[in-house]
Amino acid sequence: MLSVVTNILELKAEKNNLFTTFDKILSKKQKEAALNQKGITIWLTGLSGSGKTTIGAFLEKKLFQNNIITTLLDGDNIRTGINNNLSFSDKDRIENIRRIAEVSKLFNLSGIVSINCFVSPFQYSRDLAKEIIGRENFFEVFVDTSIEECEKRDVKGLYKKARAGEIKNFTGISSSFETPINPDFTISTLGKTAKESGDELFNYILPKIKAKK
Ligand code: ADX
Repeated sequence: MLSVVTNILELKAEKNNLFTTFDKILSKKQKEAALNQKGITIWLTGLSGSGKTTIGAFLEKKLFQNNIITTLLDGDNIRTGINNNLSFSDKDRIENIRRIAEVSKLFNLSGIVSINCFVSPFQYSRDLAKEIIGRENFFEVFVDTSIEECEKRDVKGLYKKARAGEIKNFTGISSSFETPINPDFTISTLGKTAKESGDELFNYILPKIKAKK
């Protein structure tokens, strides 16, 4: 415990020796003007297997056809790369989301639209992401697929494993998913194809990307 406290104090002292240059680099506005788009983050949250990445991929394709430059970040990909040292404990899930928010902010500052597909089960971490990215650049999208439906689909076979006790802390089974309190947009996926959901999201988000200030 003492070493943790010492570490925090050392980190604080070290921060005094940092001289950031955010004011010297080209601004977000300049880059957005060059790309003719706003650098925003579309944050899809929902259970594993709810359709976040599939919908996000349809959205990305459609935006690309409209000359919008994007990146798509998703849980399985990020967790095999930059976040490969993180587990599914509550603490590591929060750190997962914090780092992803910082990465998305960098994309947004370059004028690029970030489509984020993460379970992001805790309201606290979604709010933290919003703070990091900036409220005006952050759109929370709830991919609303019930646990029963996700378990029925079980595309990755993970629900079966979780029920068998082979995966601990599995969202919706042995770890909680906090339904978004006030999402900017909700997609109810039941009875819709992923393409239809992607189109719905496209129609909502395009004016935000093309908004002139
Ligand atoms: S988050 O909770 O930290 O936001 P993230 O979106 O990065 O999760 O990763 C979720 C993906 O990891 C799931 O879609 C699933 O494929 C896989 N996964 C593996 N173990 C778990 C688990 N215990 N809980 C949820 N997803 C898991």
